[in-house]
Amino acid sequence: MEPIIFSIETSCDETAVAILKGKNKVLSNLVVSQIDIHKIFGGVVPEIASRKHLNYLNQLTKKAFEEAEIEPDKISAVAVTYGPGLVGALLIGLNFAKGLALNLNKPLIGVNHLYGHIYANFIAFPELKPPFLILLVSGGHTMILLAKDYLHFEIIGQTIDDAAGEAFDKVARMLKLGYPGGPKIDELAKNGKPVYDFPKPLYNKGYDFSFSGLKTSLLYFIKQNKNFKIEDVAASFQKSLIDTLIHKTIKASKEFKINDIIIAGGVAANSYLREKIKTEKEKSKKLNIYFPPLNLCTDNALMIARAGYEKYIRNKFADLNLDAIPNLGLKDIC
Ligand code: KG4
Ligand code: ZN
Repeated sequence: MEPIIFSIETSCDETAVAILKGKNKVLSNLVVSQIDIHKIFGGVVPEIASRKHLNYLNQLTKKAFEEAEIEPDKISAVAVTYGPGLVGALLIGLNFAKGLALNLNKPLIGVNHLYGHIYANFIAFPELKPPFLILLVSGGHTMILLAKDYLHFEIIGQTIDDAAGEAFDKVARMLKLGYPGGPKIDELAKNGKPVYDFPKPLYNKGYDFSFSGLKTSLLYFIKQNKNFKIEDVAASFQKSLIDTLIHKTIKASKEFKINDIIIAGGVAANSYLREKIKTEKEKSKKLNIYFPPLNLCTDNALMIARAGYEKYIRNKFADLNLDAIPNLGLKDIC
């Protein structure tokens, strides 16, 4: 019988629950974004995020079971994000999950949020098999990973300062575009041209990334120039950052001789990234490039259920002592 996983994601400013049957039968996938509340402050306010998770979780859970048309005791396990993320926000989801698991007498599964982002692709592409390369680009992480099997991912390169999404958000703030910056820069850039030559730090050096120099050069550009077309600045910044991501990913695919590439995380929603990587695919017919659907790029609980499924089938359960780990890394298994 296929397992049914109920999952919870509260690592940042999205409160999300989902119910997944087997590998990819979506019974429910609900997300409440708190962006409208946090954008007043120009970024996520951790205390408010925790309070809102507490407000939303109960009603979202009820709604998910109604939508899935199953009784809570029919689930096989409760999967929950235990890191990385904001500690207070994680604790709300984690304690809710523990209460539910205890009450229903079902196993608890702790899921690493980063594995969740990667596993979002397996919902859309169940045929995917290791080995594959992963470009993981979110608000908190930027990494190229090599997946040798389903649960062990080797870090090939990562950012030494800002994450890609963080750079988008900070530059958007400099341009007074509000939070979150990624989608705003993406939209503006569609009506601009990449006429400004911003730096591409570490472009030809290994697989690590650095975006703080690019961000600083934007800051000086904005200070020194008054008459610029904001759409062109957005397009130029976006091009420098995304071209660097793609260049290094393709280089890694050649060096490690891996043709299957997964793009994961919030920045995977970027339309220039999606467009540009298609051209790479056209250049090299061997490449297979996978993106999650847009609604599974940014934070959601379905990806947590899918990663939880991999642990469920291997009997990798947590006990009720499972703690939130705000700086959980990829080395910490799933
Ligand atoms: O994966 P995610 O939802 O949360 C984290 O785990 O960090 O990623 C959020 C990040 C934010 O920095 C946001 O600005 C960025 O993803 N983002 C985008 C786009 N949509 C979201 N960045 C560039 N272009 C987009 N369309
Ligand atoms: Zn995320």
